[in-house]
Amino acid sequence: MRLFEDQIVLVTGAASGLGLETALAFAREGAEVVVSDISQVGIERAAAHIQAQGGRATACAADVSAASEVDALFKLISEKFGRLDVAVNGAGIGGTPSSILEANEAEFDRVISVNLKGVWLCMRGEIPLMLRQGRGVIINIASALGLTALPNSGAYAAAKHGVVGLTKVAALETADKSIRINAICPGVIDTPMNKFILDDAELLAQMERLHPVGRLGRPEEIATAILWLSDPRSTFITGAAIPVDGGWTARG
Ligand SMILES: NC(=O)c1ccc[n+]([C@@H]2O[C@H](COP(=O)([O-])OP(=O)(O)OC[C@H]3O[C@@H](n4cnc5c(N)ncnc54)[C@H](O)[C@@H]3O)[C@@H](O)[C@H]2O)c1
Repeated sequence: MRLFEDQIVLVTGAASGLGLETALAFAREGAEVVVSDISQVGIERAAAHIQAQGGRATACAADVSAASEVDALFKLISEKFGRLDVAVNGAGIGGTPSSILEANEAEFDRVISVNLKGVWLCMRGEIPLMLRQGRGVIINIASALGLTALPNSGAYAAAKHGVVGLTKVAALETADKSIRINAICPGVIDTPMNKFILDDAELLAQMERLHPVGRLGRPEEIATAILWLSDPRSTFITGAAIPVDGGWTARG
């Protein structure tokens, strides 16, 4: 028996990087995966990828920062499946690195809107479906920058610290309803979001040194942690923000 046989799992940001890797991993474990992303082409590609591996996927595009699009996503899930077992809120953007003094206002608003408000809008759709069935699991992809800081990451770090806070509040509001809500806090992972790091040897070496293990993380190392946090082996974990960061945040 596979771990998520016949469960309905939503992954946002599923067109690329950590979301795509996570969606593929859930599908391999028997889930029907709702792949959502702002990119229509991207989710069609992700769904085809899952189906080519013998898995089941439904594609539904949504910009997580737009309430009407998020609401339409949950209407579709409610009408098509009538339930939602696991939700992984992974959609996010890095934004342009800039100091507090040089940050651009529109860019600041966009990073907060996608990375923080998007998680709230998604949980607002996910929790009622889970309350209806009397159980469920939500994983929010925050970041090591939700626990610590680096210069020039103001909006991103603020959004990710916010995701950790939202996760704790949502977990407290649902803990007695058999709903578990946790955040995962990855270090720097080899995904398309970090192309600018991977393309710059000096910056890459600097980022590798940030992690005591001496390297960047791999997408499958995050997906594995997300699946573990979603399955019945972790039933006593809720309201946690778990670093998966090669030791970065252990430095304090
Ligand atoms: N890669 C890392 O080092 C790292 C580290 C910590 C946290 N994270 C977080 O993990 C998540 C996934 O990042 P990734 O590295 O896979 O990046 P990625 O760029 O490969 O994937 C992000 C996906 O989110 C989608 N997206 C962007 N804006 C959206 C919106 N408004 N609505 C819906 N979808 C949208 C993109 O189209 C893309 O498919 C993000 O929340 C990111 O902040 C990444």
